[in-house]
Amino acid sequence: MSSQKRKILVTSALPYANGPIHLGHMVEYIQTDIWARYQRLRSHECYFVCADDAHGTPIMLKAQAEGIAPEELIEAVGEQHRADFKDFGVNFDNYYTTHSEENRELAEFIYTQLERGGHISRRVIEQAFDPEKNIFLPDRFIKGECPRCRAPGQYGDNCENCGATYSPNDLINPVSVLSGARPVRKNSEHLFFKLNDFEDMLKEWTRGKHVQEEARNKLQEWFDAGLRDWDISREAPYFGFRIPNETDKYFYVWLDAPIGYLASFRNLCARTGLDFDEFLKADSRAEMYHFIGKDILYFHALFWPAMLTGAGFRAPSGVFAHGFLTVNGQKMSKSRGTFIQARTYLDHLNPEYLRYYFAAKLNDRIEDLDLNFDDFTQRVNSDLVGKVVNVASRCAGFIAKRFAGMLSDGLMDEALYKEFIDARIRIGKSYENREFSRCMRDIMTLADKANQFIAEHRPWEIAKEGTRGDELQSICSQGLNLFRVLIAYLSPVLPQTAYGAESFLNCSVSGSGDWDALDQPLVSHRIGSYSHLIQRVDTKAIDAMIESSKQPETTNTGTVNRTTNTIDIDQFGKIDLRVARIVKAEYVEGADKLLRLTLDIGDEARTVFAGIRAAYQPDELEGRLTVMVANLEPRTMRFGVSEGMVLAAGPGDKEIFLLAPDHGAQPGMHVR
Ligand code: 2FM
Ligand code: ZN
Repeated sequence: MSSQKRKILVTSALPYANGPIHLGHMVEYIQTDIWARYQRLRSHECYFVCADDAHGTPIMLKAQAEGIAPEELIEAVGEQHRADFKDFGVNFDNYYTTHSEENRELAEFIYTQLERGGHISRRVIEQAFDPEKNIFLPDRFIKGECPRCRAPGQYGDNCENCGATYSPNDLINPVSVLSGARPVRKNSEHLFFKLNDFEDMLKEWTRGKHVQEEARNKLQEWFDAGLRDWDISREAPYFGFRIPNETDKYFYVWLDAPIGYLASFRNLCARTGLDFDEFLKADSRAEMYHFIGKDILYFHALFWPAMLTGAGFRAPSGVFAHGFLTVNGQKMSKSRGTFIQARTYLDHLNPEYLRYYFAAKLNDRIEDLDLNFDDFTQRVNSDLVGKVVNVASRCAGFIAKRFAGMLSDGLMDEALYKEFIDARIRIGKSYENREFSRCMRDIMTLADKANQFIAEHRPWEIAKEGTRGDELQSICSQGLNLFRVLIAYLSPVLPQTAYGAESFLNCSVSGSGDWDALDQPLVSHRIGSYSHLIQRVDTKAIDAMIESSKQPETTNTGTVNRTTNTIDIDQFGKIDLRVARIVKAEYVEGADKLLRLTLDIGDEARTVFAGIRAAYQPDELEGRLTVMVANLEPRTMRFGVSEGMVLAAGPGDKEIFLLAPDHGAQPGMHVR
């Protein structure tokens, strides 16, 4: 089984240091981690590095809004990211930040090389500028009315209401998100990377099977459209690295982000004595792979290979893009509770479930992947618990109790064992080619065979007879040997479970070279004690996770967006509307808009503060019926606790009309 030892550098895209990791991100980190673990398992020298993407205007402004330095913000977010990855079993060799000295040096070096090579040009461009905040505005920081459908509150690049794309110049009544001021047009000189200088190199690289077929087609479209210069500079104020020999110009965040891969690796090299140049020099024999989302292909398949080549480094061996995550068939949504943060998941569910589920669905193509929670539950329970762990739990007890943990001195069914270990070739190839769903299918087919073997030999019946001890030991020993192979195959996906299985089997299955070690079955070998390796999925935990992920959706639309401002029937059903009699209405001292209402809803009295003082005198209200939301969380106000809300209509001020139920309504009745 052994082959030439390879040297591999692998990366996942760098998450921005201004927000939490969510399950959409996790697809990629889990995918890359499985691949890297597989390589190490096969004794290759594989280094998996990543970092936080720490620069840019959004991070600078977020820090400003929080009243802290950007360094403080990226430090705090970096800590959370590291903890999330660690708890999901994502085993980086190094997790760094793009705001590092290594990255500054490498960015300056690469830029200088490109400049010397004549690949940087400069010209004056006109951009939107916030005259109050004195800052150039990226498209996402300008809002206005959509030029097509007039929806208010649309960002400067596209309309969420009608889907139109445009430039911020086209917005009607544009305003800066930062100050509310109307942006002005202002000139400044920018630096550009002349991507077109690398057209031949990029075409050649694309032909060389370094990208997936779908990506190759996309690249062809970009070649056909013509490669355009890339604006790599930003004016102060900016959080990033200053461009050498320029005044108040900074590298655009996307210039130093991929260089962050190299900076993280260089930091690892400095700590461990690895040779950076051996991996990066132009004629390197090492391999370098980048796992990315489909939305950032342009950066990784055009700019990045061109920058590397222009600076005298090697180009990537492969750029592997994946699709986006949907949950229960739809885009992740805060209001539906399907925009799930990594930490929220970890608070409720075992990370190995998700690792397995993603593995069972991932392939080498750029397809979106759906996390369907019914399917998730069913697959984890039936595959991992029902098939894999079941093999161990059916055999372990007999070996422990009857044979003092000792396995028999030979294999009962050598042909079956051979079939299991021969599957290494096919399964290994699928891991290598990122066909993880095929791996999981093949492994589950083997797990079915292992269960079939046990079912056919009925160890529980033999155990009852009590006279065929040797046979019982042989059956269970065979079962546990098959289990060892299964868990060795699954170990890149389920590192924690493999770890538990290692102490139970008293042998390593997830270390370098352990697949080769499968040639030797466990015979006359003492195993450790068995404790359950994976529990069934608790569907209540899924519900709780979704519930705690629910947040009001923040949309960037005004009032016209009908698609995202709707609630579904379940959400509506949660609102407890009741007929209420206003028993008492009083002025509230110190509050010129409020009345304090005492409401009778049949079985209890509620106090509610309502902003209707301009519209009603207290004595007009006493005795009247209205409608209230009875299950609103009580809110502590300056004047007391408000235990619900009364429903009213109208533009406000004097024109507020309390909703009154029709004749025959009684306090406490539910409104539907
Ligand atoms: O799209 C993103 O989230 C970027 N932060 C990815 C950067 S990947 C690499 F180029 F640094
Ligand atoms: Zn529109």
